[in-house]
Amino acid sequence: MHESLFIGKNVISLETVDSTNDYAKQLLSAQKPTDGTLIIAKAQTKGRGQLGNQWQTESGKNLTVSYILYPNFLSPDKQFYLNMAVALGIREFCESICTAHVQIKWPNDILINGKKVCGVLIENALQGSKIQHSIIGIGININQTQFDTTLTHATSVALENNNQTLDIENLAGKLSTYLEKYYLQLRLLHFNFLEKAYTTSLWRYNQTSEFTKSGTAFKGEITGVTKEGKLEIDVKGKPQKFGFKEIEFVY
Ligand code: BTN
Repeated sequence: MHESLFIGKNVISLETVDSTNDYAKQLLSAQKPTDGTLIIAKAQTKGRGQLGNQWQTESGKNLTVSYILYPNFLSPDKQFYLNMAVALGIREFCESICTAHVQIKWPNDILINGKKVCGVLIENALQGSKIQHSIIGIGININQTQFDTTLTHATSVALENNNQTLDIENLAGKLSTYLEKYYLQLRLLHFNFLEKAYTTSLWRYNQTSEFTKSGTAFKGEITGVTKEGKLEIDVKGKPQKFGFKEIEFVY
């Protein structure tokens, strides 16, 4: 595959950092890093996840990166298309280094064989009717084979590849190329293309599965996502929409 044009061209490589997303934020408050700047760290001491969770990663074994992008061509009401483009890029990257089928768990976890291999934390700064900048934090489990006992659905590329480990050094460039492929689609405002690719890559798409909402379980079928990023589920023949914090998937 060819090299990327701008995503991941400017690389800031760190041994240890609190969080690559926080490092990116500090950098943005002091200067205007070039579009596509990649911050990559071997270890994080305060890795952050969605919903205020921690992101734990074993030092030197995984991909821990943040990209700085300026999607000022995108109005804030279309923010979720950025999530779609990012998730699609990571999904394809993971599939290129893994023998198994890789899927997206709404909104943007990446799963191999139903287990989480990657988490994404996108932090957008809005200014008026524009997205001023976006920090795309990505943690992909590559060579780690043991996980905290609380993380019952975690996996890594190595675990899914018969314990075959990969050289981390070469992977960031490849990830950048896949991300750019879909980011360019976003820049061309190919929203329908992104939406179709995203929904058809969703884990449990068009399948009856179980969810919980405020502790109550129900069955439904994922039929798509709204423009705002809500999950559309057909519940007993009735289409319903759910926000990120509203429902949980039952495994
Ligand atoms: C999640 O699934 O909850 C999102 C996890 C995001 C983790 C990555 S690792 C690189 C970047 N820096 C952080 O502090 N978090 C993201």
